[in-house]
Amino acid sequence: MVSRRLPATDDRIVPGTEDALSIDLDGTPVDGLRGQTIAGVLLGSGVLAWRRTSGSGKPRGVFCGIGVCFDCIVTVNGQRDVRACQRRAADGDRIETQHDALPEPTTENDPFGDRT
Ligand code: FES
Repeated sequence: MVSRRLPATDDRIVPGTEDALSIDLDGTPVDGLRGQTIAGVLLGSGVLAWRRTSGSGKPRGVFCGIGVCFDCIVTVNGQRDVRACQRRAADGDRIETQHDALPEPTTENDPFGDRT
């Protein structure tokens, strides 16, 4: 899959002026346009995945694109679990990818008891 941002001259919707912005993804600057979501900025720059699943560590990015699946969560300016497809990007936003390991089973969170 290839993602890219169309130049305004090729956009049939004829958008207004393009106000550039820059966000930081784990220390790497990523350029976008005012009005784009964080997911839109990342996808437009060719970044397809920015989270890893807890169990198998598989890459995730946008799945539903409408705020339902939570596959796209990132940390934005220190706030965890932000849906990148729902948050509009702001110039200077600091985005951190997320990867959380599954918790170890304990007697409190394991309803079936001892699994050893
Ligand atoms: S892609 Fe599904 S919630 Fe963002």
